[in-house]
Amino acid sequence: MPTPSKKKTNNTDKIDSEMRSLEKEIRDHQYFYYLENSPRITDKEFDKIFQKLKKLEEKYPDLASPNSPTKLVGSDLSETSDFAKFKHKIPVLSLENTYNTKELVDWIQKTAPEDIYSIEWKIDGASIVLYYEDGILKNAVTRGSGGTGDDVTENIKTIQSIPHRLEEKVNLYVRGEVFMNFSDFEEFNEDFGGKYANPRNLTAGSIKHKYASEVAKRPLCIFTYDAFFPDGRGKIITNKLSLEYIKKLGLPVAPDTSFTTLDKIEKTIEKLRKKKDSMPFPIDGLVIKMDDLKKRDALGETAHSPRWARAFKFDALFQESTIEEIIPQIGRTGKVTPRARIKPVQLAGTTVTYATLHNQDYINQLGVGIGARVSISKRGEIIPAVEEVLEPGLHGVFQLPTKCPFCSTKLEKVDESVDLFCTNKKCPERERHSLLFFCQKKQMDIDGLGEKQINLFYSKGWVKNIADLYELKKYEDEMETMEGFGKKSVAIILKGIEESKKKDLRLLLPALGLNEVGHKVTEVLIEAGYENIDAILELANSKNAEEELNAIHGIGPRTTVAIIEQFQDKEVLGLIKRLKKLGLNFQANASEKSDHTPFDGQSWCVTGSFEKFQPRDRAMDIITRHGGRKVSSISSKTTHLLYGEGAGSKLEKAKDLGIELVTEEEFLKILQRESIPL
Ligand code: IVH
Repeated sequence: MPTPSKKKTNNTDKIDSEMRSLEKEIRDHQYFYYLENSPRITDKEFDKIFQKLKKLEEKYPDLASPNSPTKLVGSDLSETSDFAKFKHKIPVLSLENTYNTKELVDWIQKTAPEDIYSIEWKIDGASIVLYYEDGILKNAVTRGSGGTGDDVTENIKTIQSIPHRLEEKVNLYVRGEVFMNFSDFEEFNEDFGGKYANPRNLTAGSIKHKYASEVAKRPLCIFTYDAFFPDGRGKIITNKLSLEYIKKLGLPVAPDTSFTTLDKIEKTIEKLRKKKDSMPFPIDGLVIKMDDLKKRDALGETAHSPRWARAFKFDALFQESTIEEIIPQIGRTGKVTPRARIKPVQLAGTTVTYATLHNQDYINQLGVGIGARVSISKRGEIIPAVEEVLEPGLHGVFQLPTKCPFCSTKLEKVDESVDLFCTNKKCPERERHSLLFFCQKKQMDIDGLGEKQINLFYSKGWVKNIADLYELKKYEDEMETMEGFGKKSVAIILKGIEESKKKDLRLLLPALGLNEVGHKVTEVLIEAGYENIDAILELANSKNAEEELNAIHGIGPRTTVAIIEQFQDKEVLGLIKRLKKLGLNFQANASEKSDHTPFDGQSWCVTGSFEKFQPRDRAMDIITRHGGRKVSSISSKTTHLLYGEGAGSKLEKAKDLGIELVTEEEFLKILQRESIPL
């Protein structure tokens, strides 16, 4: 029997999650109305949702989010407006690029081989110049043409880490980069329906937003990197002293800047190259600058860039190429993704032959077609994308077909998405992709079963769905006689399939590729006590399925509907039954929980990056193993926030809610005190 106090907590949880989902709904509709100019519900319907959230906020002020859309004037959302033009008081120069260490070393050897150079992160955001007079922030101006920029002072003043008043009453002009941490970008972009391609786009859009009240809600950050002293620089004779000085005045400065000579430059670059991907903020290279300011003056600058600095790009991110063909791909969910086959180019260390065009809307926006000369980009792990049309081809804008090229089913938009779908569950291309997905490294990771093998088995009609994989043994003899398959490789494949039967629910359920049921949702279900498929099926088929699923933290209304629908579906049930019979493990193996549970009753959230915990989930594993709960976003129920370098809006929110804040050092002390090993 639940105790009365527990019941109250459950009720609060429910209201909390209802308020969060109302917030999201309102934001979505504001987006459709103000940014897309295409409302999806009537004003009256919108008002109803809005008022519902407002009433809940009045009744439960503790649960109200400080960023609630009720605190925002809707029209605040329309972006960009005309700003006053501001003529820069300093030349706002750009940088010349180098793409490898040889180019860089050559430049240093030609310039001043004995000197000290600073090596700094090149932050990938939006450039800004801050004009302080008598220590007061008077103007914040975009780079613009370099000569004149937009005065965006009111917007920039909303960035929490920008001092409106410096520690000293000095006249100072400072250059900096406004940016957004990856974690904040992901959270925020989700609220905007994934409208922005990367943190830089969202940052650039934000600082030029029409309303400062909206900018204030966006988790922007800034690092400053260069100072100009209109009244003379006095004792500040190096970049090092200059950076120390602006830091002392209260301006945020990026971490990891080092000062070194030519002999150590390559080593330093290597160190930073390795560190780059674990940094919380977007980086598009390094900047190498001569440290001695007097020598800088002597070298001077061209109209475009200083002679005393170079950008260093880890990898070229863009390349030009020509589109040779556009192929609509049908994925396992039926989603159609137009893929461009391009003239092969070298990009970020690999040869690129294909780039995505996302969907028809994207194609139309770019105005892209076969034969077009385009620029291709690749960022991190993401598939290369066609970014821009440099010259249109002779074939006009490409149109996706109206029918699935594999099964001729009419393609349609589902749930008002921008993507087209083949809705035929038996489409051979969807079946083939489901098999590929199941065997993938990130899913069941079946040894020996790659795309080549699956394509072959599929074309022979041996496998159509996942369960057929587990009956492949009957083709063993025939397989061994096939070209490219020996006894040995067949044995590896069959062993890989057999071994995969042992993998538990945590891997098996997401690998089925059901809508909305990925690794995260599976983990949430298991944590909520549904530790095997029978328990999940019983839940989805029970009378209160909807209510019970909605009450689970981490499962939203859309996932609830998807779970119920799919686990009542005859085909899904048939597949599960067959897989069970074939001996697959639909049970979550007990995770090794310790008897020592000092984190019992606590809910921990994590943000930023850490030295000892990479990836940071390692810290969360320790907490959950020792009785704590891990949550992905801050709410009134979160008890602790573990924060590292580059923590963004989560930290601010936690501060607002009075949640206990724990640094990496403090966390290590707790572990030491509790004798918990790392
Ligand atoms: S120095 C004259 N340092 O990169 C000084 N720029 O491609 C020129 N940037 O417009 C800039 N981090 O927006 C410098 N540590 C850094 C930087 C940095 C980012 C941006 C800045 C500039 C662009 C030049």
